[in-house]
Amino acid sequence: MSSDFVNKKKNLFDRWAPTYDWLFPSVVYQAIHKRLLEFVDLPDNANVLDMGCGTGRLLDRLGSHFPDLRGTGLDLSPQMLGIARQKNRHHPRMIFIEGKADALPFAEGQFDAVFSTISFLHYPEPQQVMAEVARVLKVGGCFYLVDISWKTDIQPPLMSGSGGIKLYSKQTREFLGSSGGLQCHGHHYLLGPVLLTIFAKPGKLPLTA
Ligand SMILES: C[S@@+](CC[C@H](N)C(=O)[O-])C[C@H]1O[C@@H](n2cnc3c(N)ncnc32)[C@H](O)[C@@H]1O
Repeated sequence: MSSDFVNKKKNLFDRWAPTYDWLFPSVVYQAIHKRLLEFVDLPDNANVLDMGCGTGRLLDRLGSHFPDLRGTGLDLSPQMLGIARQKNRHHPRMIFIEGKADALPFAEGQFDAVFSTISFLHYPEPQQVMAEVARVLKVGGCFYLVDISWKTDIQPPLMSGSGGIKLYSKQTREFLGSSGGLQCHGHHYLLGPVLLTIFAKPGKLPLTA
């Protein structure tokens, strides 16, 4: 996918960043984060990644809920990251870095969980992102994918196209996950059409005699 597409997204979110936490969508996103917590299961001292972290609201909530959790927020937009760093109440156990979801700047098997809330729909290379998530997760680790979902893969008008977003049905999420090596552990509606899909990175299959 062209870097032009990614640059357009970066500019869009850079412009949105200063008012992001004050506008209506963010209120909805924070209600979604709260609902998501009902489904999150983490080991002690978990190390987590929030992809497309925006202003860092989800990591802030996770950090308060799990006092021993360490987290990294990754985002395309330097302006979003600037706000996340200013508001970071959990430094140094929470940090924020610039990067792209389809080329995660992390070693293999680093994270107990990866989160993506209302961000996956912007990714131009969803299969590559799934493969990257599988690579950076520990065996048994989970990927919590939260996005608006559509019953079928036919895109609503005005949403498709190179500058737009892409919504995925349950079946397509499962397909994308399995193509990256992740097993789907279920779907849960969090708020209206906003769907959580939980994936896990399976262990090695036992050797048969
Ligand atoms: C609607 S905001 C959601 C932010 C946050 N996850 C939340 O729940 O409030 C989408 C975020 O995804 C980021 N983003 C979009 N495409 C990205 C990509 N390819 N890699 C990393 N971040 C990306 C944007 O910069 C933006 O901050």
